[in-house]
Amino acid sequence: MADGKQATWGGRFSGGPSELMKWFGESVSFDKRLAPFDVNGSKAHSSMLEKVGLLSVDEREDIHKGLDEILSEIAAGTFEWDPALEDIHMNLEQALLAKTPAAAKLHAGRSRNDQIATDMRLFFKDACVKLGEALETVMKSLLGQARQNASVPIAGYTHLQRAQPVTVGHHLLAHVEAFARDRMRFFEVADHANVCPLGSGAIAGSTLPIDRSFVATELGFVDDQGEPRLTANGMDAVADRDIFVEFAGACATCGLHISRLAEDFILWNSSEFGFVVLPDSFTTGSSLMPQKKNPDSLELLRGKTGRLVGNLQNLYVTIKGLPLTYNRDLQEDKPPVFDSFDQLGIGLAVLAATIDGMEINADRCREAASDPMLLATDLADYLVERGVPFRDAHHAVGGVVAEAEKAGVILPDLTDEQAKGAHPACAALDDDWREVFDLDRAFARREKPGMPGPTQIATRIAHWENLLD
Ligand code: ARG
Repeated sequence: MADGKQATWGGRFSGGPSELMKWFGESVSFDKRLAPFDVNGSKAHSSMLEKVGLLSVDEREDIHKGLDEILSEIAAGTFEWDPALEDIHMNLEQALLAKTPAAAKLHAGRSRNDQIATDMRLFFKDACVKLGEALETVMKSLLGQARQNASVPIAGYTHLQRAQPVTVGHHLLAHVEAFARDRMRFFEVADHANVCPLGSGAIAGSTLPIDRSFVATELGFVDDQGEPRLTANGMDAVADRDIFVEFAGACATCGLHISRLAEDFILWNSSEFGFVVLPDSFTTGSSLMPQKKNPDSLELLRGKTGRLVGNLQNLYVTIKGLPLTYNRDLQEDKPPVFDSFDQLGIGLAVLAATIDGMEINADRCREAASDPMLLATDLADYLVERGVPFRDAHHAVGGVVAEAEKAGVILPDLTDEQAKGAHPACAALDDDWREVFDLDRAFARREKPGMPGPTQIATRIAHWENLLD
């Protein structure tokens, strides 16, 4: 830590903070990643100061040039970060001061409070676009597998018990729907972030003739018509951390979806299910058991979801009970959202690659779906179509199932007499009752929206492929 360097607020202090306090209080180690946003904010702010006559054209030019140089130095890894200067804002301002005296005029009309609020809104807008794109990649991977295995029958589960036959297409599209909602959620978070707090100052704005609309427009905080969107209350603007919670919440919800999908595939990959073979590139072996191939990428994805949920919880606890407005506690708001962004971004990439590399074992899927018992509900529907009230039909088919279990045969292997004798309502069974157990018929009769009928699935795949192209 550089000796003798003073944070920019040093004027009223006779002594500097202790070494311990400097190390404890610094945030530059994690907020330095905000440099591109902080520089953009400073460029917009200085352009505005020039526009209202508080900077000369030359001064504004020097500031912009200096900031660009700083960004290049950061990119080249030659910029020297100094924790003694606390945070990103003061590190950049001091570096700029070494390049041009005009830097001393840059902070007029702003505070680090509205500065960090602005930086983070710019960060969230960018992060939401990136995560939206990462989600699209995952959706495309799922769609690829769904298209390839659209009509492969597979058992669908409730209570982890085989429930009804569906198709691999139907099952994978269920996950696509969830990720599509996540994608929309990130777009909404980006929209909520799209309001400019700069000009709120510490809490009460500034007596200087600043032009908030100009800055907002420069930074892209505009509506569909290009009109600037400004925060409406300076105290709220610097105290508000809703957007952090919304972003971390969107990440956590997406994590829930990832972890549920991961769990599906982990089960499918087990010898017991055998529905899928995972790629070698995203599995690992055991140090002891030579036969093992463990679904590590999926397990890690499931595990990291705990972290995403924890980050959201972290924010709730940090923000709870803070008096208006800015309190230094709020410096702790950044690590959890950065972590959620980083982990979700890499997690989505790993998920997409895992899905791309996996192979569906169609025979095993078909086998699991082939138990006629899974179409017992269809037999009840058959009776309903012949006038039997559903509750009676349900009982009647229950009787048929019991009869089959007693006889030790699968449902369609019962004789007509055994089936019809199972319950009085079974008198409604015609000679064609066994056709119910034809899987193709079962799917073909499920062609309403949301169902696994082949046309439905094809339509839905086309819908998503169009949207994502
Ligand atoms: N590094 C600070 C943070 O992340 C920036 C705002 C500091 N404001 C202040 N009044 N100390 O919260």
